[in-house]
Amino acid sequence: MRLENKAAIVTGAGTGIGRACAKRFAKEGAQVLIADIQAEEGQAVVDEIAEAGGEARFRETDVREPDQNERMVEECLDAFGGLDILFCNAGVTLAAEITETSDEDIDHLLNVNVKGGMYAARAAVPHMLEQEGDSSILFTASKTGLVAQEDSPLYCASKGAAVMLAKALALDYADRGIRVNALCPGIIDTPMLERYIEDLPNPQDAWQEFRQAQPIGRLGTPEECADAALWLVSEEARFITGVALPVDGGFTAE
Ligand SMILES: NC(=O)c1ccc[n+]([C@@H]2O[C@H](COP(=O)([O-])OP(=O)(O)OC[C@H]3O[C@@H](n4cnc5c(N)ncnc54)[C@H](O)[C@@H]3O)[C@@H](O)[C@H]2O)c1
Repeated sequence: MRLENKAAIVTGAGTGIGRACAKRFAKEGAQVLIADIQAEEGQAVVDEIAEAGGEARFRETDVREPDQNERMVEECLDAFGGLDILFCNAGVTLAAEITETSDEDIDHLLNVNVKGGMYAARAAVPHMLEQEGDSSILFTASKTGLVAQEDSPLYCASKGAAVMLAKALALDYADRGIRVNALCPGIIDTPMLERYIEDLPNPQDAWQEFRQAQPIGRLGTPEECADAALWLVSEEARFITGVALPVDGGFTAE
């Protein structure tokens, strides 16, 4: 029960990495607000957590909207009496050269992957500073926030921004009780990866290539990301702030 008596928000928790993290946080005792644009998936995660004996609730949230981030924070405070962990995980990807991207693509990638985290952190920090005890903010960045990947300039740029947002916030609040870190998953088997690969010209070869791309020789799982996220937001990582932790089977070691 490493998160006993903690209240957490996980954005993008309806599927994939966020879903696994929300379930893991709840299993460790946290009360979890599931925030996602997909209501059915989000409610299903709440139900799974309740069936396992945990506590969660769903709030339909589009992280691109500042006021929806504010309401998400308010709901966590009202429902759980505090906000100890903010996990900004919602994200979207795009496989396209820059010349193939529209204005809408650029806005969408930045609004979800970068501005979403900014709005959520801006809404959460005042409450975290006020309340007793230490708090933690975690952003899901990516290995592509550390090393570039072909055909994904918007995604790489957005994840590089998420890494630097985490580091800059970590400096601002290091001595005021808020730790801020970034999780940098490698290639993880989630609905996002499936959509990304199926959009490539030759998906079958791409699956094979992606499995072999990580030195460990396989795709990562959402649960492996959840193990790392749990550690970063837990008391065990109390001296860790401003890090971008690769969870990538050795990808960025090369
Ligand atoms: N899967 C990978 O290989 C991989 C690798 C590195 C980083 N990531 C990052 O991990 C995070 C989770 O990705 P995933 O692979 O679990 O993908 P996913 O598509 O399974 O999950 C993303 C979730 O974010 C939600 N979301 C999308 N736009 C939203 C919005 N505007 N407001 C609120 N919620 C929104 C989706 O509904 C979905 O539930 C993302 O930030 C992604 O960029 C994934």
